[in-house]
This record gives sequence, structure tokens and C-alpha cells, in this order.
Amino acid sequence: MITFLQHNPTKLYFGKGEVQQLSAVLEKHLNVLVVYGGGSIKRNGVYEDVIVQLNKAQATIFELSGVEPNPRLTTVHKGVDICKTQGIDFILAVGGGSVIDCTKAISVGAKYDGDTWDLITQKAPIEAALPFGTVLTLAATGSEMNSVSVITNWETKDKLGWGSPLVYPNFSILDPSYTFSVPRDQTVYGIVDSMSHALEHYFHRTENTPMIDGFIESLLRTAIAAGPKLLEDLQSFKHRETMMYVSTTAFNGTLSNGTDGGDWATHRIEHAISAVYDIPHGGGLSILFPNWLEHVLEEDPSRVKQLAVSVLGVSPENKSDIEVAREGAKALRDFWNSLGAPSQLSDYDIDDRDFDAIIEKTFIKPGVGTYKEMDPDSVRDILKRSL
Ligand code: NZQ
Ligand code: ZN
Repeated sequence: MITFLQHNPTKLYFGKGEVQQLSAVLEKHLNVLVVYGGGSIKRNGVYEDVIVQLNKAQATIFELSGVEPNPRLTTVHKGVDICKTQGIDFILAVGGGSVIDCTKAISVGAKYDGDTWDLITQKAPIEAALPFGTVLTLAATGSEMNSVSVITNWETKDKLGWGSPLVYPNFSILDPSYTFSVPRDQTVYGIVDSMSHALEHYFHRTENTPMIDGFIESLLRTAIAAGPKLLEDLQSFKHRETMMYVSTTAFNGTLSNGTDGGDWATHRIEHAISAVYDIPHGGGLSILFPNWLEHVLEEDPSRVKQLAVSVLGVSPENKSDIEVAREGAKALRDFWNSLGAPSQLSDYDIDDRDFDAIIEKTFIKPGVGTYKEMDPDSVRDILKRSL
């Protein structure tokens, strides 16, 4: 293991009815900006529950709606303007990863005099942020308990991940019943995204990590067991609850304790693709990750083999390491396919014409991949395998 500091300041309220905590955790009489997406929270009753709580806390309520999936800088700017002109004290994100990521950007933009994009691109340091909390409605990204955000600048077609210790949510409220209305396709993307976060943590190069490796394997087996059952019954509290805890744990810092943090090349390539094509993040990952596995196992099959045997049910009997590893990559692709996730770029009508642009955007920040460091040719190889 390597030295690590474990510190996650987000208070997590998990379980049915936990929205009732909201009025107690908020100070009284605040100017609160409620940020949400395209309206799902108005259709499923979450909005009303939140407003009841804000009224109890005697908050003055302002709203920013219409946050897009793959949230855009233009929407961040709108939120920053409201914060600056209305004297907002606290922001409440009510939605999935996109709403939370947009809120994180608004919270730092509200405390900065220039363009928020400067902070996202690290042209200017992040020195302050408005406090915010979240009410999560979709289990996928882990944004509810991490300090990461991903924002798209649609003008330049850049989708950038950024982070700061200042953008951990103060609190997050996770009621699995709030995810009952998540449609089947988004539920599948959520399963794929959270599994991908666990998988990317798994591909580290640190020695002697049996506890974290076993934890990741257990998380993955849990998702593989619960995911298909949830898709058979989208109203199952039991399976919604399991997947919600899986997705938060898959990306809240726990899985990198003592390791080098894993290899996030697939996420970098996916962000580059969705910057150009605006496809769902989980859909992009389900296409790319099995191909990344196939790309890396050619050089060194050992880790993929361990994954194949420990998680994906591949028998190693009478097979070479590379055969086991290849079966593992196929088993993962087959599993995600069986859920209805896409497996080829052509599923989104994407061909090779923008590969150069995608590769360039993948390297918009230096250093792609740690388990296997990528160069443009390796990214091209993964993209070609994904056609
Ligand atoms: O906009 P509304 O009406 O809310 O509808 C959303 C949206 O259309 C809908 N939805 C959410 N909760 C629902 C619901 N529909 C019915 N019932 C509910 N309870 O689902 C659609 C997708 O929502 P979105 O927030 O975009 O999904 P997700 O949580 O998967 O977030 C994706 C974004 O997060 C980024 C991705 O790149 C993408 O931009 N990521 C953020 C990360 C982070 N901050 O740590 C890490 C991830 O790897 C990821 O990159
Ligand atoms: Zn992700």
C-alpha cells in the first residue's frame, strides 16, 4: 500500500424518508438556490418534498431549472448570475450527476470574479465556494459524495473533469425510492457507470492491496447480482437501495485508499466522445471499457485474469492467462449487453470520421492512463475496436 489520507466531509443521509432531515440540517432564513434538471423531480413528487422542507427552514427560494444531461457551461453561468445578483447563501442540487456537477461549478463560480471556465480549466485557482447540499435522484456517478465535476463547453466542444476539496457537498440525502422513476435506459447507464468506477479503481499498480481489491471485487459482484434483478422490477426498493449504495461507494474515495488511484483512461476517452457527440456517459463506457480491457490484456493479462476469475465467473481450468483474460473481457461485454447497454459506437451512429478530434480531446490534459499509459495510437486502437 502507499500512504493515504481518508477524509470525506460529506454527511450522508441514506434511506427512505430521509428528506425530512433537510429542514434540520439547513440553517434558518437562508437564500437558497434550488438547482434541478428537465422536470423529472416535478413529475415524481421529489420537488414537493424538498419545497416543504425548505419552507420549514423558512428559506427564501430561488430556482435554476433545465440543467442538461452532460451539463453545459452556459447553464453554469446562469446559476452564477443568480447567486451573485440574489445574494444566495446556499445551493441545493436536486437530481442526478449532471445537476450536482453543475451545482459544484456554480458554487465556485459564485465566488470568482472572472469566467467560471477559468476555474474548470485551471487557468485560475479555486479559492472559495458557496456551500451546497444534494438530494440525489439517480444512482450512477458518485458526485453526491465526491469532489469531482464534469462540465461541457459546447462552444469549444470540450467536456472537462475538474475537482477541488471545496466542492464536496456539505450533505447528501439518498432516498432509494426517489430513483423508482428513473427509466430503464438511465438505470442501465447507472449500473455501467458505477461498475466502471469500481473497475477503473481496480486497475492500479500498487502492491499488497488485498483489502481494497477484495472490496472492489465484492462491490462488482454485488452490482452484477442486483443489476439484472432491478431491471426486472424497477420499483424494487431492495435493489434500488443496493445500487444506490454501490454507486456512491464506487466513487467517494474509499476505493482508492492505499492505492495509486487506478486507471481512468476509459473515462477520459468517453468524455472526449461525449464532448463531440453528446451521448450518455454510461452508454459510452459500456462500449469502451471491454475494449480497453482487450487492449491492455495483450501486453499483460494478469490483472484482467484476476478480474475474470474473481468477479466474472470465468473458470481458469486448463487455460492460459491470456485466454482467461480474453474470456473476462467478453464476459463483461456480454453482461452489459444483456442489460441492454450498447457495445459499439455504431449503436450511436458514430463512425471513424471524428477519431482525430476525439483523440485530441482525450489528451486535452496530459497524462492519460496509469496502469497502461496511453498514447494517441493506443486510444485510436481502442476506438477502432469499439466501432
Ligand atoms: O433532467 P431530469 O428531468 O432530472 O432527467 C434526468 C436526465 O434526463 C433523468 N433523471 C434523473 N433522476 C431521475 C430522472 N428521471 C426520472 N426519475 C428520476 N428520479 O436522467 C437523465 C440523466 O441524468 P444525469 O444527471 O445526466 O445522469 P447521471 O447521474 O448519469 O450524470 C451524468 C453526468 O455526470 C458526469 C457524466 O460525464 C455526465 O455529464 N459524471 C460525473 C462524475 C462525478 N461528478 O463524479 C463522474 C462520472 O464518471 C461522470 O463522468
Ligand atoms: Zn463515470
